[in-house]
Amino acid sequence: MTASYSIDAAAASDAPGLIALRTGVVAEGEFLVSEAGEFPASLDAVIARVRMTAPNGGPPNRCMFVARARFQTVGVIEVQPGAFRRNRHVGHIEVLVRADWRGKGVGRGLLERVLSWSTTSAVTKLSLAVYAHNMPAIALYRSCGFTEEGRRVAEYRFPDGSFRDDLLMARTVGSTPL
Ligand SMILES: CC(C)(COP(=O)(O)OP(=O)(O)OC[C@H]1O[C@@H](n2cnc3c(N)ncnc32)[C@H](O)[C@@H]1OP(=O)(O)O)[C@@H](O)C(=O)NCCC(=O)NCCS
Repeated sequence: MTASYSIDAAAASDAPGLIALRTGVVAEGEFLVSEAGEFPASLDAVIARVRMTAPNGGPPNRCMFVARARFQTVGVIEVQPGAFRRNRHVGHIEVLVRADWRGKGVGRGLLERVLSWSTTSAVTKLSLAVYAHNMPAIALYRSCGFTEEGRRVAEYRFPDGSFRDDLLMARTVGSTPL
């Protein structure tokens, strides 16, 4: 049976689900830079973040879409712009899918939604950083037109003492030249 979910602009009511989703992915320990206790988890902070996004009246270079299934938030994608006039055309992407919903098309659906949004946004370039060992994420980004811009060697140190590389990937929006 096909998994049923919808993708919509995030709403303030998603905040508890967004916190639960991020807490779960952080606890996996493999995919994100932050560890438990290192990310803002207050409801107010998440609601404020949702309200800053374009579909909710925020600036045209910031968005957040969620995947909902059975009234639960099972995926999220966020685009945050650069902080300065000289890089506010660049949207930095982060995408998370709950472990039990991976491999069902949710990540691709979220990324395609952002690509569609971006064509009418103020963003001309989408960029991201991903652990070089995160093959599922890298395969998804490549298949959606992202290419490698660089590699930061031994950028992160894991709790077991091992070092991990960071891959920088990006793509332009529409026909904008890079
Ligand atoms: C990366 C992630 C968002 C992908 O989401 P997903 O819903 O599982 O992905 P989809 O089911 O939409 O698959 C999309 C593509 O991803 C790739 N992919 C997904 N799972 C894969 C796996 N286990 N191995 C290799 N490639 C995989 C494939 O290219 C797939 O394309 P296909 O459908 O044509 O086969 C998800 O695995 C996730 O949330 N991981 C933890 C958080 C994370 O790593 N986020 C990225 C941080 S930069």
